[in-house]
Amino acid sequence: MKIELSEEHLMIRQAARNFAINELKPGVIERDEHQKFPAEQIKKMGELGFMGIMVDPQYGGAGMDTISYVLVMEELSKIDASASVVVSVNNSLVCYGLEKYGTEKQKEKYLKQLASGEKIGAFCLSEPEAGSDATSQHTTAVDMGDYYLLNGTKNWITNGGTASTYLVIAQTNREKGHRGINALIVEKGMEGFSIGPKENKLGIRGSDTHSLLFTDVKVPKENRIGEDGFGFKFAMKTLDGGRIGIATQALGIASGAYELALNYSKERKAFGKPISEHQAIQFKLADMATEIEAARLLCLKAAWLKDQGLPYGQASAMAKLFASEVAMKVTVEAVQIHGGYGYVKEYHVERMLRDAKITQIYEGTSEIQRMVIAREILK
Ligand code: CAA
Repeated sequence: MKIELSEEHLMIRQAARNFAINELKPGVIERDEHQKFPAEQIKKMGELGFMGIMVDPQYGGAGMDTISYVLVMEELSKIDASASVVVSVNNSLVCYGLEKYGTEKQKEKYLKQLASGEKIGAFCLSEPEAGSDATSQHTTAVDMGDYYLLNGTKNWITNGGTASTYLVIAQTNREKGHRGINALIVEKGMEGFSIGPKENKLGIRGSDTHSLLFTDVKVPKENRIGEDGFGFKFAMKTLDGGRIGIATQALGIASGAYELALNYSKERKAFGKPISEHQAIQFKLADMATEIEAARLLCLKAAWLKDQGLPYGQASAMAKLFASEVAMKVTVEAVQIHGGYGYVKEYHVERMLRDAKITQIYEGTSEIQRMVIAREILK
């Protein structure tokens, strides 16, 4: 067994590290405080190829593998999890879904602009009454012949206000249950499509989360992804990859907080020596480093399986479940190691603690990941 990154992997990781330090770090506290979307930074990430890392260059992407995606996501998330969730949703939910299941026409029209970062995408599954129980879609897409009539509300939509292209999951035929659900491409500006107010969140405050309202929106039939009734499976298959992105976001938050705590522990003195020389701190650092390494290996394994064309749904659920729990534990300890300084904004770790929590909630709660894993085990 060989666990080794290629030259190309090391280069993309370094590029993401440099970008995060030079472009994301300045202003990250301010963006969090004022809920400011990192628009300029996203534009630059598009130019670097980070918005369509795995997309074929033919469609405007960087043509790299999922391991590269994991490496980029960890580096960005170490510094700014609000920016990295934009990258994650655009890459693994929107671009992946369109490239894998879209028609040639859809790829030409939508994927190219999304993969190059010219435009941003959103993935719209959650509803006021359908979060974990994703088959209970209340949003309807009634078949009107050459178009669908879309009505309903979507909740907690990442990139809700800033996106231009929305992949919307809706029920067409209730009698068919999950086999009567469709995935439709909706464009910002379509008549009857409106965007609710921005959510004021605990964490990832720089990201842009909204409710979306659809009132008699006419969506052309050619905007349906896949065959009639494929929408639920489309959402599930896409989320399998999305969970690798969020697992790695959690990993990055944890490793970013750990690095800050490690550096602080070497500088801060108590009882006549740096606190890193006290066993109480050393034990914390050792546990943090071990758990982060385990989370990293789970993320890389899920990515590797996906790149090999092997099943990766269980591996991505395990990575997300574990890495998000590690992110919570590590950020709590990072604040503790910083003492009072950890509780104020200037030292970054309080933001990381707030950001970590969402990784246990979105793209399937920890309970959903356990369900996915248990079903595989018991198959
Ligand atoms: N791949 C392919 N097919 C899948 C699948 C997968 N990973 N998971 C389920 N399916 C198929 C099943 O095989 C089944 O098909 P058949 O009947 O043809 O066999 C069908 O889908 C229904 O499956 P289940 O009976 O297992 O469905 P369920 O109702 O029990 O739910 C679930 C399964 C895993 C709990 C699912 O509902 C789920 O993942 N829920 C969480 C949804 C979620 O992650 N929401 C987050 C929103 S996205 C977000 O957060 C985006 C953002 O902005 C950041």
